Amino acid sequence: MRKPIIVGNWKMNKTCAETVAFIEAIEPVLHDGATFGVGAPFTALKDATATAKNLVIAAENCHYKDNGAYTGEVSVPMLQELGVTHVIIGHSERRQMFNENDEELNLKVKRLIEAEMTPIFCIGETEAQYDAGETENVIRTQLAAGLKDLCPKCVAKMVIAYEPIWAIGTGKSATKEIAQNCCHIVRDQIRVMYGDEAADSVRVQYGGSVKPENIKEYMACEDIDGALIGGASLKVDSFTKIIEAVK
Ligand code: PGA
Repeated sequence: MRKPIIVGNWKMNKTCAETVAFIEAIEPVLHDGATFGVGAPFTALKDATATAKNLVIAAENCHYKDNGAYTGEVSVPMLQELGVTHVIIGHSERRQMFNENDEELNLKVKRLIEAEMTPIFCIGETEAQYDAGETENVIRTQLAAGLKDLCPKCVAKMVIAYEPIWAIGTGKSATKEIAQNCCHIVRDQIRVMYGDEAADSVRVQYGGSVKPENIKEYMACEDIDGALIGGASLKVDSFTKIIEAVK
């Protein structure tokens, strides 16, 4: 059975002091019903891993090279040294604002797998693609390129976050039917690429305006194994409600 995984994506929010205070407040409400984590800014990761006991700490990006002349970048060994275990890869903000493409995202995923870390690989269509009926094609194409040339056993341990861009930070969450259907397509594409074991084991998250009021309906869907949560993961109160809702 797939253990659910709920991850907050803090984006460019929280200082070190705010990170420590948040994690100290959240730790006591965690439970075994799911894996819980937060994606924190690079600057807060050391304090985050030092403070966390059961909360998984994720970075929000990494480079695929281990070192070199890449001003401003952070490598996988640097994150590993801090005790980071998960990395969000290919978030739509990185794809859209920082021009990350499928080929480099594939290299990042490969480097993380080599380091035995868990990529949280993000995909999802724009509003225009949704309106044009291209959602399924976008999902399959992004997965085919981003998860190219991996081993089935490695894919089985990954997390894939399906996040329709029109639902991110808009309050306009996808209906549970749309979310389930798209997460099913994700799993089917993994089946096509890597077979049944990978497809049945990979954890698929829905992301896009997830909040305490709607988390339960997503979690009840057959192909949804968790959520990637932006806005509602920033406040102890709302993240606690989400954690309690998935008990
Ligand atoms: P949101 O963000 O929950 O604020 O919509 C989700 C995300 O960007 O991962």
